[in-house]
Order: sequence, then C-alpha cells, then structure tokens
Amino acid sequence: MTAEKTKIESPNQNIMPVTATINEHNHLTVGGIDVVDLVQEFGSPLWIVCEETIRQSAEAVKLGLSNYGQALPCYAGKAFLCLALVKLIADLDFGLDVVSEGELFTALKAGFPAEKIFLHGNNKSERELKMALNASIKIVVDNESELATLIALAKPLRRKVEILLRIIPGIELDTHDHIKTGHDKSKFGIPLDQLDAAIELIASQKNVELLGLHAHIGSQGMELDPFLESVDVFADLYANLKDKYNLTLPHLDVGGGLGIAYIADDRPLALQSWARALSVKVKEAFSSRNLPIPELSIEPGRAIVGTSGVTIYQSGHLKELPGINYLAVDGGMADNPRPITYQAKYTAAVANRMVGESDKIKPWSIVGRYCESGDIIVEEAELDARKGDLIAVFATGAYNYSMSSNYNRTARPACVLVKNGRAEIIVERETLKDLVSHDRIPSWLT
Ligand code: LLP
Repeated sequence: MTAEKTKIESPNQNIMPVTATINEHNHLTVGGIDVVDLVQEFGSPLWIVCEETIRQSAEAVKLGLSNYGQALPCYAGKAFLCLALVKLIADLDFGLDVVSEGELFTALKAGFPAEKIFLHGNNKSERELKMALNASIKIVVDNESELATLIALAKPLRRKVEILLRIIPGIELDTHDHIKTGHDKSKFGIPLDQLDAAIELIASQKNVELLGLHAHIGSQGMELDPFLESVDVFADLYANLKDKYNLTLPHLDVGGGLGIAYIADDRPLALQSWARALSVKVKEAFSSRNLPIPELSIEPGRAIVGTSGVTIYQSGHLKELPGINYLAVDGGMADNPRPITYQAKYTAAVANRMVGESDKIKPWSIVGRYCESGDIIVEEAELDARKGDLIAVFATGAYNYSMSSNYNRTARPACVLVKNGRAEIIVERETLKDLVSHDRIPSWLT
C-alpha cells in the first residue's frame, strides 16, 4: 500500500505518512491509530499530521548535510506553522524561516530560539521589521527599498543587525509558473546588476552586518540541476565580492524547494540526496574558487511536512452523470486550495475500506462542497466508494492548513498530531461562533 514502485529512501518520496498501514478492519491507520476512530473522536473533515514522518524527514536532511561541517538546516514555516509545529521543529534542532509577523509571533510564542529564526518576505512592513529587530532575529532583505528602511531603523540601535540579501539568480525551476521564484522577472530578490550598489550601501553602515546571500528558486522541484546551477551563481558572486571589495561572507542560504510525491508518477529526489548534492556542490564550487566554505542553510518546507499530512473527509452525495461520477465531500478548496490554484494532483483512498471490492471500483471525481466548479480535489480516483465513507487525501501536510480559508463561511477543520498510538489536537476546529467573532454591525444597522 505504500506505492513502493521505486525504492523509497526518504518520506518525501512516499505519498503516505511513513506510519500508514491497513489494519484488520481494512481501515487506514496513521501513527498507530485507526483513522475511523480519529474521525469519531475529532470529527470531519480532519487534518491528520504524522509526527514520525516529520522527524524522519528532518533526520534525512541532517544526514545529507552530515559531511558538510557548519550547516544550519531550516524549516520554511509557510508550509505549515502552529505552536506545536514550532515546538517540534525546535526539538529537531532546525532553524526556522518566517515570512510575516504572524509566523514570527507564533515562533516566539512557542519559545523558538531567536538566533535561529530568519525573517523573509518581499514587502516587510516597518512593524514587522521592528518586531524582528526587537527579537534580534536575522533578516533576509529582499530589495533596496527595504534595505533603506532597515538601515534607518537600525541607526539608533547599539548593535549590528545581521542580514542576508536575497538575490534573483536567474534560474528557472521545472515547476508550475506560480511557484517559480528564481527567474529574471521574479518579484522576489535583488537583480544581480543591483547587488553591488546594495553591498556598497551596507559596507558604509555601522549597524548592519551582511552575513551572506540567499536565493530560493521555486517550489516542488523534481530535478537537481537547477539547484546546483544556483550554487555556481552564488560561488561566482562570492568570488566577485572578494575580488572587488575584499569581502568574505560567512553564510550562504540556498533556499528550499524540493518536491514531494503527490501521485504515483511523482519521483522527487530523496531529501538526504538533495541535501548532500547541494552541500557537496557548495564545497566544490567554493573551494575551486579559493573561497572559504560558508556556513550553509537550506530551507525546505514542503519536503519536511508534506507527506506527514492526510486529510480525511466524509463522502456525502454521489452523482453519476454520463462520462463522470462525482463524489462530494464535506471539505474542498477552502482546506486545500492547491488543486484549484496550481492544478495540483492528489491521491485518495477510502479510509474505511482500503482494499475495495474489485467489481465496485470505478473512477470517482472527488469534489468539494464549495460553490466553484473548479473545486475538484482529485480527478477520477479509482475507488470502491459509497455514501458516508471516509475519504483520505494524502500528502496534504504542506500548504493546506497554511493556505486554508473560510470560503462560503465554513469553519476550518481541526488538526491532530498522531504519534505511537496517541493523538492530540494541535489546532482546534473552528466553530460557527468563530466565524462571526470578528464581525461587527455598524450603529446605523442595529
Ligand atoms: N524559502 C523561501 C524563501 C520560500 O519562499 C519558500 C517557499 C521556501 C523556502 C520553501 O519552499 P518549499 O521547500 O516548501 O518548496 N503555495 C505553494 C508553494 C509556495 C512556496 C513559497 N515559498 C504550493 O502550495 O505549492
């Protein structure tokens, strides 16, 4: 059942959580617990997150970096962040990337060590920058205008603010257009022809210290070459900075972006192979240019949490039309906007009948309950599905909860962490009351 067509070396290559099994009732289990029991206790729809998958993913990254020397693997919190996740990431000894005051607040609230937090973002507000300065976290500066604001904010401080500069490396990743970020027209980062001006401005400042350069070329990358190419771009830039300004930057952050398996045809690199290949390449590229080897950060998000997540829905009305069978579930694009946004593909199963009766299996298009024709979670899943079944959709750990909405005034599902037969809520289910809790009626309508 683990879709093991090729050898699976790390959790990002397996569509299901590493602990997924089928029990004697023909039910899906995750983290040692029957999913049917989980839904009975916590309701539907339900996001289930397998802690063991996250732990093994993080260990795979560490293994890949183990021969590098000084490396700080970071987790990109935008993939999925809540207080429990922050605690888990801290326990794994990773750094943490945040991209908003909300993510930074969550990280600090859960007690994440400030020295291992990096604030990213292409349009950080002054308030966000001040929050970062107050907490002494590192800031990844996106553009010259932000740099000017930061310099002004740093002036009254009696310490140096540590920053990285995000560059546009001019590299295309083989992925959906909306999640490419390294190409020349990217809205993220400083174009290479503006880099010297930024470096010179920083050099003239007392309170700002440039630790290194950063780039993130895109997301759900399946090929290694673009990642390796970006390392050559970095090494050339570091060599140029040394020649031109006698500047040696101690840190390098090559971003995240490794893909995961959503469907059987997806063949992402193993996390450890990706981390190893990148770190070996950095060593080679820097030493061949006679540069000192920098401290290295990589920042995967999706590949750490993606396959840890399973969404469970309950099937409602079934509709059989000429040429298409619809199975409608009690969730959809508000808890998983990825199919409608990026035409993302997912894999589904019937959690309460994992092995179906072969003569009852047929293609079901799993559609959401939202008022949009594009609210299709999986097209033509071959299932023995019936009304009232629990439908599992796999690999929903990344960019599902974090991108969810209240569209159609629906409450967000609960999120439960499972581990060794234990399950606890990490994000409470929203209630109808929550949905109106921020509404106000102006005096003239009361
Ligand atoms: N670092 C930076 C600076 C990033 O912007 C991102 C993701 C990451 C790291 C982590 O990338 P990952 O390893 O997760 O691919 N919502 C889209 C993905 C957007 C990614 C944005 N940046 C999706 O659902 O596919």
